[in-house]
Amino acid sequence: MKRKTLIAGNWKMNGLLEDGTALAKAVALEAKKRGSQGCEFLVCPPFTLLTSVKKALRGSKVGLGAQDCHVAASGAHTGDISPQMLKDLGCSYVIVGHSERRADHHETSALVCQKAESAHQAGLKVIICVGETESERDSGKTLAVCQKQIKESVPQDATAENTVIAYEPVWAIGTGKTPTVADVAEVHGAIRAEISKKFGKAVAAKMRILYGGSVKPSNAPQLLSLEDVDGGLVGGASLKAADFMGIADAVCQK
Ligand code: PGA
Repeated sequence: MKRKTLIAGNWKMNGLLEDGTALAKAVALEAKKRGSQGCEFLVCPPFTLLTSVKKALRGSKVGLGAQDCHVAASGAHTGDISPQMLKDLGCSYVIVGHSERRADHHETSALVCQKAESAHQAGLKVIICVGETESERDSGKTLAVCQKQIKESVPQDATAENTVIAYEPVWAIGTGKTPTVADVAEVHGAIRAEISKKFGKAVAAKMRILYGGSVKPSNAPQLLSLEDVDGGLVGGASLKAADFMGIADAVCQK
């Protein structure tokens, strides 16, 4: 089963108008130069840059995503952004359940699941993040933690078309540390098995599972070309167009 590789950039809370727009233009240009590599590209800037990045990406094949959304479509939720608003701005994807939101904003898997379902209803695709902390890994709970997060965070209406999973070990995010290739293969296999239990074999065979956590051009060939790894969710290295596209070059067919 051939799944289309997705290279997604999570800009997190980085970028002002000038440098954010310049970065988007550089990514669009580099993506254009590469033509129809067998990859899908996505950038997820902060909310404040969505409109200008959308403009900068015009005419390119790079998609636009957001980093979070609220569960409700509208209403009295000061400071929040609904999936409908993101769709309205031209987003096609939204990341939900990133470990920084689970930790900083106390988001539970139940909430992540509701967010994913609301995003689907608004016509957005979701990237649902799961991953263990360092102490969970040290105590041998990696697979159990990821399986539980998949069970509780992926909504019933998920399909291989509207949902992407990202496995991001919390201890590997922004640290330069990465799991071994064997560890990544094991966790991705377990996640696919969990998806299969919940949605059946056919859906599991088609659903994309990304790896995220300190991905860079030099480790992308090992980490992202494994059988069950269908691309990367890239943080730090997505802030430089050359690094972001370097990661793509390492895994996308020319
Ligand atoms: P990193 O972040 O690539 O900077 O480790 C990945 C992520 O948090 O999505």
